Amino acid sequence: MAEPQRAASNAEWFARAERVIPGGVDSPVRSFASVGGTPYTVVSGEGPSVTDAEGTRYLDLVQSYGAVLLGHAHPVVTEAVTAAAVRGTTFGAPTPGEVLLAEAICERVPGCEQVRLVSSGTEAAMSAVRLARGATRRDRVVKFDGCYHGHSDGLLAGGGSGVAMLGLPGSVGVSAGAVADTEVVPYNAVPALDERVACVIVEPVAANMNLVAPAPGFLAGLRAASDAVGALLIFDEVITGFRLGPDGATGWSGVTPDLWCFGKVIGGGLPVGAFGGRRELMAELAPGGPVYQAGTLSGNPLATAAGLAVLRHVGPADYAALAARVAVFAKELEAAVASGGLAVTAPAVGPLVGLFLAPAEAGPLQPPSDYEGARALAGTGLYGRFFHAMLRRGVALAPGPYEVMFPGLAHDEGALARVVEAAGEAAAEVASEAAR
Ligand SMILES: Cc1ncc(COP(=O)(O)O)c(C=O)c1O
Repeated sequence: MAEPQRAASNAEWFARAERVIPGGVDSPVRSFASVGGTPYTVVSGEGPSVTDAEGTRYLDLVQSYGAVLLGHAHPVVTEAVTAAAVRGTTFGAPTPGEVLLAEAICERVPGCEQVRLVSSGTEAAMSAVRLARGATRRDRVVKFDGCYHGHSDGLLAGGGSGVAMLGLPGSVGVSAGAVADTEVVPYNAVPALDERVACVIVEPVAANMNLVAPAPGFLAGLRAASDAVGALLIFDEVITGFRLGPDGATGWSGVTPDLWCFGKVIGGGLPVGAFGGRRELMAELAPGGPVYQAGTLSGNPLATAAGLAVLRHVGPADYAALAARVAVFAKELEAAVASGGLAVTAPAVGPLVGLFLAPAEAGPLQPPSDYEGARALAGTGLYGRFFHAMLRRGVALAPGPYEVMFPGLAHDEGALARVVEAAGEAAAEVASEAAR
């Protein structure tokens, strides 16, 4: 049978989606609510690109919001998943794949001695916080404004990402009680803690308020402040884990947290998350300990096969080459957008790239250091126009100003050069429209 999904246009698919899926999307960040227009419906991905229902191919910088590191449909992943699928998709009993993936994570991240696999980053962060509360017998959680740790009730305050894109302070449906023990503080300022604090949870590189790098000393300051009051430090590495480098933000920053949250890359594009830490801390979890956490599909054989294939495929040299390529890309992107007539800053941390735009009159932009600064630049309203101008030139960015770009191992210099060229033209188009 010929591919039936190509029979309908993007608009037809989306109209059907809107009838049966709220807003037509299964995650709000996929909606075009903040940029306008109708989302393209992806039918396939090939390396750095995706192809939509109408056969249009885009150079894709979304890469499933960072879940994909090797590029779409990489053979090491598709072969691993296929081989796993024919052996059976889930058993509800221990499997070798989960052991191998847990070993691969613990071998790479110094200090992380055990992990519990789950099925999403949300579950990982929610469970890490529960473990921190259980282990410390304390209730308060400190999180940073603009950091996103998934959509569990207690962590949805000051959430960044889709919450920010939709202009929501949080979510209706989260009771006051659920967030009463969550304190939201500004990123890049070490907060005053006291002995009621169970944990401090942080994105070691903030990538859900566009890209905000940690200031020198910030993460080390959190480590010291947590130690001083006996609170646990949690690095939410759902984005940075196995993307910043083989040992994620721990190696990159030299700061070791008590607990880690992982997701995205460790699932190779399938649903996986993990949280981990020192052996004695993880021993608090059921079945051995009193902190309950569970999952029917946790450590799923397809997902662990995909994640393991990715972790085994990439080595330190790949991460170094990618970061070097991306550093050049970010500079060239900035230069192209500036020469097109917009004020711009494109901060890069390893392979993560942000993009803040403003009218030329704003002059040279400095990368923001917190959510307030990020919001001010996201609020210039230029991003939506730039997004569409890029899409018309065959480059897919995330449809919201609070996301980052995820160039990965499939984006070679030629692909990145095409993005830079498109960005210069798109900026010129947006600047001239703005001048009218
Ligand atoms: C830093 C961070 N933590 C947690 C999550 C939640 O992960 P998931 O969407 O897999 O539930 C995300 C998702 O983007 C994230 O970026």
